[in-house]
Amino acid sequence: MKILGIESSCDETAAAVVEDGRKILSSVVASQIDIHAVYGGVVPEIASRAHTEAIFGVVESALEQAELTIDDIDAIAVTNAPGLIGALLTGLSFAKGLAFSSGKPLVPVHHIRGHVAANYLVHEELKPPFVSLVVSGGHTSLMKVNDYTDYELIGQARDDAAGEAFDKCARVLGLPYPGGAAMDKLASVGDKHKYKFTAGSVDGAEFDFTFSGLKTSVINLVHTETQKGRVIDDEFRADIAASFTETLVKTITTRLELLFKRFGACNVVLAGGVAANSHLRKAVTETAEKYNAKVFLPPLKLCGDNAAMIAAQGYFEFLKGERGGTDLNAFATKSV
Ligand code: KG4
Ligand code: ZN
Repeated sequence: MKILGIESSCDETAAAVVEDGRKILSSVVASQIDIHAVYGGVVPEIASRAHTEAIFGVVESALEQAELTIDDIDAIAVTNAPGLIGALLTGLSFAKGLAFSSGKPLVPVHHIRGHVAANYLVHEELKPPFVSLVVSGGHTSLMKVNDYTDYELIGQARDDAAGEAFDKCARVLGLPYPGGAAMDKLASVGDKHKYKFTAGSVDGAEFDFTFSGLKTSVINLVHTETQKGRVIDDEFRADIAASFTETLVKTITTRLELLFKRFGACNVVLAGGVAANSHLRKAVTETAEKYNAKVFLPPLKLCGDNAAMIAAQGYFEFLKGERGGTDLNAFATKSV
């Protein structure tokens, strides 16, 4: 069964064709990063307009690269939540028009479930149940995935998502947006014990995350040091990146360890843009090994937003009977 996936929840316009939820036939991603970089972050209205310009060509390329026409497609899967509302509406409206004009079923997909499904595309043997940690620019969610379409939220970020914290710290260090990948490289050469940062916990919600205090400590330190005349050089950047990453990663592995102790060892699936972080990948793998739990990591090219992950999850949603009608809407927030 061939599913055409469409993704436009943030700053990537993407389309892909996936067979039976597991095999990528094509995957096209048009990134808007260069457009938003000058503003230091995603500007929602500019994102919507850029999606509108790109979506037709991106979908056309995805079909061409798969050497298929719309007639060969069995269903159209589209991200309808969560994300930037104008951006979501662009992809959703396009998908609706295409689905109803071609007579194909339309399948709404939750963006976070899509990130998890990126792993089905590379790990043939991966099947629920497992625990998943989605760490991205907009989300930090710890979930029990009981079945392909049965999700149970265990913990989530109460303020800044992990990727957002990475990007804001990168920005104060003068790194271009989005700074996550640059912070990753710098952290590899910095001293992780140089600065003592802390990330708080949430009273009564031990699996939840809070990264805004950690981000503020980094920003305050950089401001204080620059006021004292310190130049932000590569050594300073690297030590901050390493100390910040160490704290953020520990916050995540502490929750994972607690989960293993509480519920027993289980398979763990990492996903989302920040799943590309080498320090997080290493720490999650080591934590799981300690408890004899198996870890599934997405390849770097499937960590960030793409439509192959939406088509993969769309396949399982389709099998479950999930359909979108002409009244299907987009939602900026929606539980997983
Ligand atoms: O999943 P994604 O493409 O978009 C959302 O759904 O939010 O994630 C983008 C985020 C950005 O914050 C970016 O800085 C971060 O992922 N990121 C990284 C790395 N690569 C991308 N963060 C830390 N280390 C990386 N290597
Ligand atoms: Zn995402």
